[in-house]
Amino acid sequence: MVRKFPDGFYFGAATSAYQVEGGIENNDWAEEARKGTVPVCGKTAEHYTKFKQDFAIAKMLGHNAHRLSVEWARIEPVQGRFNQKEIEHYRTVLRELKSQGMEPFVTLWHFTLPDWLSKKGGVLSPSFPFVFSKYCRHVVEKLGAEADFWIIMNEPVVFASNGYNRGVWPPFKKNVLSFLRVQSSLVKAHREAYRQIKKAKEFVQVGIAKNNIDFCGGNFWSSIFAGFLRWFWNKRFLNSIRGETDFIGINFYFHKKFGDDKHHEKSDMGWDIYPAGLESVLVEAKSYEKPIYVTENGLADAKDLRRGQYIIEHVAAVEEAIKKGVDVRGYFYWSLLDNYEWAEGFGPRFGLVETDYETGKRTVRNSAEVYKHLINSVKNSR
Ligand code: BGC
Repeated sequence: MVRKFPDGFYFGAATSAYQVEGGIENNDWAEEARKGTVPVCGKTAEHYTKFKQDFAIAKMLGHNAHRLSVEWARIEPVQGRFNQKEIEHYRTVLRELKSQGMEPFVTLWHFTLPDWLSKKGGVLSPSFPFVFSKYCRHVVEKLGAEADFWIIMNEPVVFASNGYNRGVWPPFKKNVLSFLRVQSSLVKAHREAYRQIKKAKEFVQVGIAKNNIDFCGGNFWSSIFAGFLRWFWNKRFLNSIRGETDFIGINFYFHKKFGDDKHHEKSDMGWDIYPAGLESVLVEAKSYEKPIYVTENGLADAKDLRRGQYIIEHVAAVEEAIKKGVDVRGYFYWSLLDNYEWAEGFGPRFGLVETDYETGKRTVRNSAEVYKHLINSVKNSR
């Protein structure tokens, strides 16, 4: 079969620091875990010490890129004091990726805040855009030579919604006004960070990872409502930063059709499996006229019954979008490893690779081989 992926297309997987590294005790999630409001993360997958082994697995699975994040609380444990040792740790990590033939995509902020910042009001503290952009600039100044692709923040609207509207993540607020204020603060922070990063390293590619949802309507009124939600959830943030992003990362997990009682297959989290939704959100993002990367897409599937097919169908949806002229340049499965799934703890299993949290042992799942085979078939069709 002739496949439509452009040369140099990236296939890989994604993780985030707090979810896989282990040993991080000085951020807001660790503080909440001590209070008993969220599950304890502890040593999780011990990726901080096992990264070489994990990258070797990714390489063996045919990946040519990898998305990870750096932990703000490690790098700036005290406001304004940057820890050079941690910078050197991440330098080693990024060099290891490159030496194993994988292009790093580095997220600067994936949900967790250093203690000192959350105590000052977190993202609603008036100085947030300033301290955030200073941190971003510092990291890229030091590590910009090690990676070409930098993602300023992960899923700002999910962060705002879960922490300030639904009240299920720190700081557990349920307040529509704060939900909106947080989004404005994150827009400011993103823009300022973009400018600072570009001052430090003009030629790196700087983007965002945005969770977009395939909202659909079943009739006239529900279609209007779905259109509103597409604007509010998918586009509003992107519209505000379109001048300050070189590429757009799309994280896709959700399809929501109002008035639809059709039964879809579900992941272990109860989320509908609906690959056509990925094509739809990619086509929607075409209007930004920027390169697009699917920076996350995955499912919890402890028994690994659906994951292989899920990946095949979602990658096919990416291909359909490419055929429609969308400039998609990469696909990252979430996640390389089973890891700490935030408020859900260690129950959900998203990994291509199973993690035994007791022994640290890794076991490659069958679906990881399916993905490998797919990556090879794309390579061979060129
Ligand atoms: C987040 C990840 C999370 C995944 C699965 C995304 O929203 O970026 O941190 O683990 O979804 O829920």
